[in-house]
Amino acid sequence: MNFNLTEEHLMIRDASRDFTEQELLPGVIERDSQMIFPYDQVKKMGELGFMGMMNDPNYGGGGMDTLSYVIALEEISKHDASAAVIMSVNNSLVCWGLEEYGSAKQKEKYLRPLASGAKLGAFALSEPEAGSDATSQKTTAFEKEDHYILNGTKNWITNGGNADYYLIIAQTHPALKHKGINVFIIEKGWEGFTIGPKEDKLGIRSSDTHSLMFDNVKVPKENRIGTDGFGFKFAMKTLSGGRIGIAAQALGIAAGAYERALAYSKIRKSFGTAICNHQAIAFKLADMYAKIEGARMLVYKSAIDKDQGENYDLSSATAKLVASQVAMEVTVEAVQIHGGNGYVKEYHVERLMRDAKITQIYEGTSEIQKIVISRGLLRD
Ligand code: CAA
Repeated sequence: MNFNLTEEHLMIRDASRDFTEQELLPGVIERDSQMIFPYDQVKKMGELGFMGMMNDPNYGGGGMDTLSYVIALEEISKHDASAAVIMSVNNSLVCWGLEEYGSAKQKEKYLRPLASGAKLGAFALSEPEAGSDATSQKTTAFEKEDHYILNGTKNWITNGGNADYYLIIAQTHPALKHKGINVFIIEKGWEGFTIGPKEDKLGIRSSDTHSLMFDNVKVPKENRIGTDGFGFKFAMKTLSGGRIGIAAQALGIAAGAYERALAYSKIRKSFGTAICNHQAIAFKLADMYAKIEGARMLVYKSAIDKDQGENYDLSSATAKLVASQVAMEVTVEAVQIHGGNGYVKEYHVERLMRDAKITQIYEGTSEIQKIVISRGLLRD
């Protein structure tokens, strides 16, 4: 596996880093503490091509590969993991599936504005009683004449309040279990569609997370994606790619915390010397570096698997499992290296530690990744 980055990849890294330091870092602490959605920043991300990086330029996308996408997400997550998840959901969970499985009409109407960043998307699979157990969908969409009638509740939906378009997974033929599930494109403002209050979260606090409620929402048949009953496979395939994005987010959170801890250890003095000269600190830095390097290899490998047309179910689950664990471990150590300063907001590492936790939960908990990995290993 050759991880040599091309000139284009290096340019994307520089551009993402510059954008993050200039546009996202200022104000990140205030947005986090007050749960302020980064409206202006997300608009700029759209203008710069970050919201549909892997999509066809004919539909307003950036035409880039998955490796470019993870490089950008890592840089953005170093300073603002909330902006990163807003971007990741739009790219991986919404635009990718629309391009791969949507009709020409759906792509023209919905993908173009989403991929160009003019509109924002959300993906709704989770329910109060169907988080990890995704086949147990209680939201229903029954056919009636030329449309479907959608009823039910979705939980913990990223971009839930600020999205314009939503991909909603719902059960159409309960007797068929997961083979009866469909996915629909819903627009904000449709009669019977309401959005619950913003969740007050531990981390990624400036991304907005909401419940969505559907009360007899009329959905045109042409808004179903794919053939009847394709919804569960759509969700699983979409989540496989989504996990590469979350793994990249976790990698960026870890790398951001490590970079801050390394810099701090060189200027903070104790017992007459910079703390990096104490082996207790130097060994922590060595462990953090080694874990991040390992995680980066897995994240890049999964992105390259996808770019080369290989099956990436196993590699994306592995990358997410490991990178999210590394994010947790490295951010805890970054706080420790900062000592008392690590516990206050202005040093950023406490926020990164809080942000790290969600990467072990969303788009499948670590336990779900182990199910996917072990099934992949035992299948052959
Ligand atoms: N690609 C294609 N098909 C797949 C697939 C994949 N990656 N994974 C499973 N399937 C298919 C199976 O082949 C099977 O189809 P057939 O019956 O036709 O063979 C069908 O899906 C059911 O598969 P399983 O029997 O394996 O289903 P299961 O009930 O055992 O569950 C699971 C599998 C992996 C645990 C799945 O339920 C899962 O991934 N759960 C976690 C859900 C999740 O990640 N939720 C996160 C919500 S999204 C989010 O967090 C977004 C956000 O806002 C940030």
